[in-house]
Amino acid sequence: MSASVGGLSVLFVCLGNICRSPTAEAVFRRKVEEAGLADRVQIDSAGVGSWHVGQPPDPRAQEAATRRGLDLSSLRGRQIEPADLERFDYVLVMDHSNLRDVNRLSHGRAELFLTYANGSGAQEVPDPYQGGEEGFERVLDLIEEASEGLLAEVRARLQ
Ligand code: 4NP
Repeated sequence: MSASVGGLSVLFVCLGNICRSPTAEAVFRRKVEEAGLADRVQIDSAGVGSWHVGQPPDPRAQEAATRRGLDLSSLRGRQIEPADLERFDYVLVMDHSNLRDVNRLSHGRAELFLTYANGSGAQEVPDPYQGGEEGFERVLDLIEEASEGLLAEVRARLQ
C-alpha cells in the first residue's frame, strides 16, 4: 500500500494490537505529521492474535499515551492478514515471537522495529500486558526512539 504516488506505507505489529503496536502507530504518525510528510506515509497497526479485534487500546496504554499528548481512543484492534505482507512497504514487529509468527505468513518480510533505534541496544519492545504502569512508559520510550530512526529512513527513501 503506497499512500500516494511516491509514498510509503508502514504496518506496526504486536501480539494483541491493544498495547504496543497502536502506541507505535500514534507515536510515528505524530512524527510524520511534524515532518510534514503525512500525505506521503500511510501508517497502520495489527495484531498476531484475534482476541482484541474491534477493541480500543488497553486503558493503561491510553493513559500512558495521554501523558505524552497522544490520543489512542479512536484506534481499534485488528488481526494481521497475509495480504498485509504484500500491501505494506515496512512490516515492523515488536519482539522475536511476533517476528516468527509474521514470517510464518510470509517469510522474511517483517523486521524488528527496534532495528531503527540507536540508543538503548534493546532488540525488543517488551510485552507490557501482564505488568505494571512502568512497562507502558518503557514501551513509549523505546517506541519514541525507534520512531526517530524510522523517520530518518523514510525521509531518505522519499527523496
Ligand atoms: P500487545 O499486548 O501485544 O502489546 O497488544 C498484549 C495484549 C493482549 C495480550 C497479550 C499482549 N493477550 O494475551 O490478550
